[in-house]
Amino acid sequence: MYKYIVTVLSFFLFFGICAQTLTETEITKIKHLSLNSLHTVEDPSNKFLNKEGARALGKALFNDSRLSSNGKVSCRTCHIEQYAFTDKKKLASGLREGFRNTPTLLNVSHQHWFFADGAKDSIWAQNLSSIENPAEQNFTRLEVMRLISTDKLYRKQYDRLFEHDLPNQSDLDQYPLKAGPNGELKDLISWKKLTKNQRHSINLVFTNIGKAIASYVSILESKPTRFDKYVDDIKEKTISSYLNASELRGLKLFLSQKSGCSNCHSGPIFSNKSFHNIGTGIPAKDNGRSEVIESVLRDPFNCLGIYSDAKPEQCSELNYINRNKHQLRGTYKTSTLRSISKTAPYMHDGRFETLEEVIKHYIFIGQSETIKTDLSPISLTEKEQLDLVSFLSTL
Ligand code: HEC
Ligand code: HEC
Repeated sequence: MYKYIVTVLSFFLFFGICAQTLTETEITKIKHLSLNSLHTVEDPSNKFLNKEGARALGKALFNDSRLSSNGKVSCRTCHIEQYAFTDKKKLASGLREGFRNTPTLLNVSHQHWFFADGAKDSIWAQNLSSIENPAEQNFTRLEVMRLISTDKLYRKQYDRLFEHDLPNQSDLDQYPLKAGPNGELKDLISWKKLTKNQRHSINLVFTNIGKAIASYVSILESKPTRFDKYVDDIKEKTISSYLNASELRGLKLFLSQKSGCSNCHSGPIFSNKSFHNIGTGIPAKDNGRSEVIESVLRDPFNCLGIYSDAKPEQCSELNYINRNKHQLRGTYKTSTLRSISKTAPYMHDGRFETLEEVIKHYIFIGQSETIKTDLSPISLTEKEQLDLVSFLSTL
C-alpha cells in the first residue's frame, strides 16, 4: 500500500515538474532577470559617489527634516524603508499634496532617467529638486547653505569631503535668510538680488549636498528574493522549490509573447529604463516625457552643466536624447517591478490600488483610450491573471 502511494505521488510530482519545465530560451531570459546580473553603478557627473564620508553625510541629510520650510518633512517622509522606500499613498504629500505617486528608491541608481517622466538625468539633480519643490520640502538653496554652515557636525563632514569652502558667520550675515529660484516669488526676488558670485557659491554648496545624498541613495538596493534564489537553482541545474506551481506558470507567462510583459519589464530591475505609452497619460494635464524634454536640456544641474563632474562625451543620455515630442506624448518610464508587492498604489499617479487592477489595464488597453498606445490588448484567463500576480509577488 505504502509503495503504491509513493508511486502515485511521484507520478504526480514528475508530471507537475515536467509541466513547469523551462525551455532553453526561457532559461536564458531568466538569467538576465536575476539580481546577480546587476552591474556596479557609475555616475561620471558625481565624483563624490563613492567618496568616503559622502554616504554618512547623505544618509543624515536624507533623514533630516530641518531641510524643509516647516521643519517636518525629510526624504524619509515619503520614502519609507519599510515600504521599499515608498509611502502607501496615492499621491505624495509633503508641504502639500503633489501630483505623482512615490516610487521605490531601491535600485534607482541603475536607472538612466529619474522621475516618471525622466525630468532629471542624475540622482543628485533629482534630490535638489525634491528639496526645493514647493509640494515636497519647499526649502531654498540658501537655507541649505545656512544649515550646513551653521550645524557643527555637518560643517565638519562637509569640509572633509569637498574642496569648496563654506561661508563663515560674517559672510552669512551678508545674505538674506532665504533665497532660491524655484520657491515663492519673494525668494526668487531675493535670489535675483544676489551677485552672480554669491549665486554660484550657493549653487556649489547645494550641488555638493545633492551629490552626498545621491551617494547614500545609490546604495539602496534589493536583497535577493525567492525569485533570485530560484534562478540560482536553475543555473546550478538543481530542481528548485523556491517557486510554487502558480508562480512558475506566472513566470512563464511573464516571459511569453502572449503577455509581452518582459518586452519592457526586462533586466534585473525589470525595467528597460525607457519611455512608453501604455495609455496612462492624461491629455491636457499630464503628458509625461514630452513635457520635460526642453527643461532637462536647459537644466543648469544636468550632466552637461557647470556643476557636473562629467566630460561632455560621458553624457550619452543627454547627447542622444529623443526630442520628438509628438512621439513621446503620454509616455512614462517603465517602472521597476522589484518589491512590487510593497509599493502599491501603482502607476505614476497611483491610479490602481492592486496588481490585479494593473493587469486588467493591460487586458482592456486600447479599447477605452483615446491616445494611441505602444500596446494592443492582451487576452488572459482569470487563472492566468492570478498566476501573473503570484509571480510578481516573488520579486
Ligand atoms: C513629498 C514626498 C517626497 C519627498 C519629501 C521626497 N520625495 Fe522623492 N519622490 C517623490 C515622488 C512623488 C517622486 C516621483 C515624482 C515623479 O515621478 O514626478 C519621487 C521620486 C524620487 C526619485 C526618482 C525615482 C525614480 O525612479 O525616478 C528619487 C531618487 C527620489 N525621489 C529621492 C528623494 C530624496 C533623496 C529626497 C530628499 C531630498 C526625496 N526624494 C524627497 C516623493 C517625495
Ligand atoms: C510597452 C511597454 C510595457 C509593457 C509591454 C508592459 N509594461 Fe508594465 N509598465 C510600463 C510603463 C511605461 C509603466 C509606467 C506607467 C505609468 O507610470 O503611468 C508600467 C507600469 C507597470 C506596473 C506598475 C508599477 C508601479 O510601481 O507603479 C506594473 C505592476 C506593470 N507595469 C506590470 C506589467 C505586466 C504584468 C505586464 C504584462 C502584462 C506589463 N507591465 C507590460 C511599460 C510596459
